[in-house]
Amino acid sequence: MNNTTLYLAPRGFEHELEKELSNIVAHKGRLFIAKGGVQKTVWAQNIWLNPVEIPISSIGDGAKQLKAMQRNWWLHSVDNHRRAKLIQAKLPHVSAKRIEYGAPKPTAPLGSWTLWEPDTIIAASRCTSPYPDGELNFVEDKETSPTRAYLKLWELFTLLERSPKKGELCLDLGSCPGGWTWVIANTGAHVFSVDKAEITPRIGAMPNVNFCTGSAFGLDPRHAGKIDWLFSDVICYPERLYTLVERWLEHGECRNFACTIKFQGETDYATLEKFKQIPNSKIIHLSCNKHEVTWVKLEEWEK
Ligand SMILES: C[S@@+](CC[C@H](N)C(=O)[O-])C[C@H]1O[C@@H](n2cnc3c(N)ncnc32)[C@H](O)[C@@H]1O
Repeated sequence: MNNTTLYLAPRGFEHELEKELSNIVAHKGRLFIAKGGVQKTVWAQNIWLNPVEIPISSIGDGAKQLKAMQRNWWLHSVDNHRRAKLIQAKLPHVSAKRIEYGAPKPTAPLGSWTLWEPDTIIAASRCTSPYPDGELNFVEDKETSPTRAYLKLWELFTLLERSPKKGELCLDLGSCPGGWTWVIANTGAHVFSVDKAEITPRIGAMPNVNFCTGSAFGLDPRHAGKIDWLFSDVICYPERLYTLVERWLEHGECRNFACTIKFQGETDYATLEKFKQIPNSKIIHLSCNKHEVTWVKLEEWEK
């Protein structure tokens, strides 16, 4: 295990992670072991840092050794499932309760472990995500938001520990039926919401929302003035989104961006690479992203 790192792929995106990682030495299920320190990845949902291999003589011994390292452990089972579950049952309970939106990120370290062989645990007491398997499962609002798309912004704002501030100006492109606009408006920011379709009337009627029917690509940044955030969840080819983003970047009057890059068919690695090259930005595969990723650019990453 010396000098290796483990990477967990999101469900269904093992291929993308495998393609992205170099020096893979082993792989089971969604878990990949790669030689060397942490690689910058888009497709890892969680990364296990400085993992160790722990030979165990029994179920009790496995639990004892994990407990001796720290309290909180999350099992990601890829093999030897029954035996792994028996070890897990002997460990302190870790809550997998749904998260209330707005709750701060957990501060207690959460380690991840797996029973790689019947007598070998692989464990990492530190991971890049404080959430079990890097997944954020919220207590959902099924009444107010028209679709589940709002969960993307809930997750993004939680991970960034950042969201628009009261009074800031936000543009939400491809906003219908209105989930993102609803989330942004709830921050107290002012939302200019644009879509070819019609917005859900109760969202369009929120006092700090202005909805306008039209194409996201027809908007000229020169007519928009200064804006604090540009959001886009428009369904379009990644290349088309890149061209749109380039125009807004060139104009230089938008401070922060959060855009969904949606893949249609194959993953468009070439355009993804172009987004990666944009300074001060990063690409995240949110746990609620399907075959899409979220590109974020912030004026200041440090709070
Ligand atoms: C996935 S939905 C957005 C969901 C939205 N974020 C929400 O939370 O409700 C994608 C939207 O992109 C819109 N769209 C597609 N092409 C567009 C274009 N050229 N200009 C503006 N909107 C467009 C569609 O009408 C659709 O409403």
